[in-house]
Amino acid sequence: MDKVRKPIVAGNWKMNKTVAEAIDLANGIKRDLAGCKEVDVVLCPPFTSLKAVSEVITGTHIDLGAQNMHWEKAGAFTGEVSAEMLRELYCHYVILGHSERRSYFGETDEIVNKKTKAAITANLTPIVCVGETLDEREGGRTEAVIEEQVRGSLKGLSARELVECVIAYEPVWAIGTGKTATSQQAQDVHKFIRGILEDMADESVARTVRIQYGGSMKPANAEELLSMPDIDGGLIGGAALEARSFVDIVKAAM
Ligand code: PGA
Repeated sequence: MDKVRKPIVAGNWKMNKTVAEAIDLANGIKRDLAGCKEVDVVLCPPFTSLKAVSEVITGTHIDLGAQNMHWEKAGAFTGEVSAEMLRELYCHYVILGHSERRSYFGETDEIVNKKTKAAITANLTPIVCVGETLDEREGGRTEAVIEEQVRGSLKGLSARELVECVIAYEPVWAIGTGKTATSQQAQDVHKFIRGILEDMADESVARTVRIQYGGSMKPANAEELLSMPDIDGGLIGGAALEARSFVDIVKAAM
């Protein structure tokens, strides 16, 4: 696939896999993708498996990401981890503001914004997630919701900082439900997000930032979604828990 931006496919393993299972899955993915240069491949296991997975993928082109972090550098924040701690385990990416974090753990755009800034300061690439609920889509509020989330989550970032971000558009109604946005529905929102980036910074930033689609992406629909001009990759949940389907999605992005 001839793309303006290098595709990026990330596996969000969520709260799945013990250390032993994570090592198995990472090994399965590594077998096929160790030398993959056409697509940025990122594995985001739970915190408990970061070290083990980093050992499996060391020396390959596969990168490591975390699923969350705190914005402070250190301190009395029981249960949290800092950006520096993730860097120490060789993470290059961190997923921020996933809809599950927003809905179950009360993360607001303001919190996501603090985390995004802290990630960039620590040299981690944030994967900033945005997406509307079914109610919001059916109420005709998709664009308003997305605009508020993008502006709020990326508030105060310079052009140089904006290009260090990856954005993931994940319609909440498509996450883990088997319902995928049609490629045109996804493309429309991706293009809309690019317009917001142009307004926040300039055309070059809008053209450079990679925007992933997430929400029931699987081998059967990946190619069509990824063929859209403004879809630069995928953030994969369920289909990332099995090596075969994750590898097939990455291949669809090549
Ligand atoms: P899904 O999850 O692929 O299982 O829909 C995507 C995500 O939540 O990142």
